[in-house]
Amino acid sequence: MKKILDLITEKVTAAFAEAGYDAKYGKVTVSNRPDLCEYQCNGAMAAAKEYKKAPFLIADEIAAKLAVDPVFSMAESVKPGFLNLKLTEEYLADYVAQMQADEGRFGCEKTAEPMTIMVDYGGPNVAKPLHVGHLRSAIIGESVKRIGRFMGHNMIGDVHLGDWGLQMGLIITELRERRPELVYFDEGYKGEYPEEAPFTIAELEEIYPTASGKSKVSEAFKEEAMQATWELQHGRRGYQALLAHILNVSVTDLKRNYENLNVSFELWKGESDAQPYIPDMVQKMKDDGYAYLSDGALVVDVKEETDTKEVPPCMILKSDGASLYNTTDLATIVWRMKDYNPDQIIYVVDKRQELYFTQVFRCARKTGLVKPETGLKFLGFGTMNGRDGKPFKTREGGVMRLEYLVDSVNEEMLKKITENQKEKENLCIDADEAAETARMIALAAIKYGDLSNQAVKDYIFDVDRFTSFEGNTGPYILYTIVRIKSILNKFYGSGKTADGARIGAAHSKSGKDLMLAIVGFNAMAEQAFAETAPHKICAFIYELANAFNSFYHETKILSEEDEKTQKSYICLLELTKSVLETCIGLLGFSAPERM
Ligand code: ARG
Repeated sequence: MKKILDLITEKVTAAFAEAGYDAKYGKVTVSNRPDLCEYQCNGAMAAAKEYKKAPFLIADEIAAKLAVDPVFSMAESVKPGFLNLKLTEEYLADYVAQMQADEGRFGCEKTAEPMTIMVDYGGPNVAKPLHVGHLRSAIIGESVKRIGRFMGHNMIGDVHLGDWGLQMGLIITELRERRPELVYFDEGYKGEYPEEAPFTIAELEEIYPTASGKSKVSEAFKEEAMQATWELQHGRRGYQALLAHILNVSVTDLKRNYENLNVSFELWKGESDAQPYIPDMVQKMKDDGYAYLSDGALVVDVKEETDTKEVPPCMILKSDGASLYNTTDLATIVWRMKDYNPDQIIYVVDKRQELYFTQVFRCARKTGLVKPETGLKFLGFGTMNGRDGKPFKTREGGVMRLEYLVDSVNEEMLKKITENQKEKENLCIDADEAAETARMIALAAIKYGDLSNQAVKDYIFDVDRFTSFEGNTGPYILYTIVRIKSILNKFYGSGKTADGARIGAAHSKSGKDLMLAIVGFNAMAEQAFAETAPHKICAFIYELANAFNSFYHETKILSEEDEKTQKSYICLLELTKSVLETCIGLLGFSAPERM
């Protein structure tokens, strides 16, 4: 379906052309003065310059032409030269009815040219618990992926595990100190290694910080860990078997955590998967003359003439020949291109890594790891802060584990809905349903609280505000959906149906406003995709929910006596519910049946 703004623009453009002006002046936007009109066109102001004529004279001419068009109930020229427009109730209702007939898409067409887009998000580190820093990447990346998929693209999410480097050597070294008798440390051992890991996730999560702490105070321990890392990376069997255990135990735990967040990945690749591609990649960079030695290190220049800030060379290998974070990201691009040939790769990473990714992207382009037309996009996000405006911490000042954060919001939500239930008395949700409902609302609170901000901005994680049923929050959106569900249930429960009915012209301002809010869906979805901007979806559903609630408060729906009117309301409610549910699906959460 064409977007409503485009349809209106076509009308206005035609009017400009008919009156002898350039059609380009007919562009229409949503009104920024909803008290005066619904849509507006400011083209006469610009045209005035070209045609050396007073803007209001032009606006008058256009308004006169549009006034006779059945699409507009109002086409008014306002000094100095604005065109204020309102749609007829019939035209608007017809568009909304078409949206409803377009099941599951609501007027939003899938792309005619599907792209393969890889989204690099999550980025957890093996053996370290997920902390709040990983939350944003997971939430934003998942939403970006779902939006792209809705638009018809082939979206592939890759978790890009941090599973390479010193942390592995640290764990191995600590384990060896504790249990030197384990077969993994016996270099002469030639047999099969046990299938069962010699540690649990709880132990692993304790081993790593202990080892990391030791390496900071003991040079000898650090040396040993580095040696273990080197041996692991150069094929020592026992260590590789340990690595497999660490990965296994860790990934099982990570999957459980991500599942609780309604986040999933198509690929569970890690930094280690990129290592086999490094030698050939480096050789080629040397052969092609891009990589050169500078102070012993191998580097590629990536600065450009137009740079206003210094962009240092991209380091490919350290002077001791060891690879780096850069090397891994570059080699990851190599296998991604080879295996998936993506049109675009989007990285959802902390914005503090922006310069780093500028280096990586430039290096990848310059050395031909990607095609000239391959998109490399950095979607940097800001920090999630506590109420004191500083990075979110535990009460004791430590790094907040993601699980604890989620649990605390769950608890808060459970408390709230239990209180709610007590007030309502007649509606009794049992304990299991209450816990499940609390979980759903808590997830909405967390995700909406995050996604309603532009990703690049820092924001304050305020549990009280995020879990409120009022205001621009996830729970408010869910509450609105549940309210609609409840009305629909009562309607159908009374044995009535709205089969074959169609949305008719609005009888009230609030009814029309609801329709005006809903018709923006297709344009909004396209924009949210084009700008990788989930916050646009939040802004849209907040307005839609507000418009619905105003309509609800002013309209008797269940007691409406005119059957046709009532059925039309029911259809409008169905559409509102479906659009809201589709949108929260794109944000990565869902609504309960009741709350
Ligand atoms: N593991 C990294 C961290 O915890 C994030 C990885 C981001 N993605 C990437 N392709 N470099 O900071």
